[in-house]
Amino acid sequence: MHILICGGAGYIGSHMAKMLASHGHTITVFDNLSTGHQEAVQWGELVCGDLLDQAALDQLFQGRRFDAAMHFSAKSLVGESMSDPALYYRNNVTGTLNLLDTMRSHGVNRFVFSSSAATFGNPITPFISEDHPQQPINPYGQTKLMVEKILRDYDTAYGLSSVSLRYFNAAGADPEGLIGESHLPESHLIPNVLKSILDHGQPLQIFGDQYETRDGTCIRDYIHINDLCQAHLLALEYMTDNQGAHGFNLGNGQGFSIFEIIHTAEAVSGRTIPFTVAKPRMGDPAVLVADSGLARQKLLWQPAVTELAEIIETAWRWHQDQRF
Ligand code: UFG
Repeated sequence: MHILICGGAGYIGSHMAKMLASHGHTITVFDNLSTGHQEAVQWGELVCGDLLDQAALDQLFQGRRFDAAMHFSAKSLVGESMSDPALYYRNNVTGTLNLLDTMRSHGVNRFVFSSSAATFGNPITPFISEDHPQQPINPYGQTKLMVEKILRDYDTAYGLSSVSLRYFNAAGADPEGLIGESHLPESHLIPNVLKSILDHGQPLQIFGDQYETRDGTCIRDYIHINDLCQAHLLALEYMTDNQGAHGFNLGNGQGFSIFEIIHTAEAVSGRTIPFTVAKPRMGDPAVLVADSGLARQKLLWQPAVTELAEIIETAWRWHQDQRF
């Protein structure tokens, strides 16, 4: 298949491109390189452009016949979405609408969407399954939920099939070390934990240690990037026999606190992680852990990397020899 990967120069999109290429698919990456890296586009062609630029989108679809699109281009910082919601609604909702409508006018009717655990807001059950109420507590989560709703209407009205994959915490890197997680500035926990070892004198900041959790720090469900990408491949296949707008939660089903991440990273690296405790970050729920039973049942998805140490080990390898 010829797959369009919007945001294919970013962390998740680039790992997706590598996996799709290894399965024999043709790839076109569309990316504005605002947060992604040209060096991460090692599989398939790169078309530089922005989803808010209709002329660029028209040109992208001109002369290319896509079988499906995967959409990873999004602003994704919860705090930034609270201080600048306009940026998030415009980029994440209007940009996605532009893409979907261009797909429609070119007869492309299969779509895999990067959704988020942020669509659920504060959990009311220990494990979050698909029937948990979706009540986002920040504009970022709102934008992801809005797109999920748009996708349901586009299925009903236009027959555009989609799978929305609600990621919990994507982590780790390509085991071969060719690509990995690289954001500027970096906001994610595991890269910052590892950078605190590598960037001497920059201790990790722990955002809050007074949450109602077993050690006072936030608990998250970390899933290896390749397991996440595997679910996208299965989602593509799933749409062949299952038209509709589907949604699945993706996580390992096990929560780890910030201190547990630090201790595991210390064991993996053999180094001590320097840290300080800072005030909690706005919009952070205390605990987010997935129930991915539906993805296992319907997509036949089975995460291969279930040990936290193995996830951190791949990230550690990347950060020691970071190429971009
Ligand atoms: N944290 C720190 N120090 C850091 C970075 C993070 O203490 O330097 C904490 C955060 O406050 C949070 C936990 O570590 O409690 C995990 O933070 P991440 O930024 O790594 O991940 P989030 O859970 O905040 O973010 C993930 C996705 C986002 C998505 C969000 C939904 O990466 O895209 O879940 O809640 F929006």
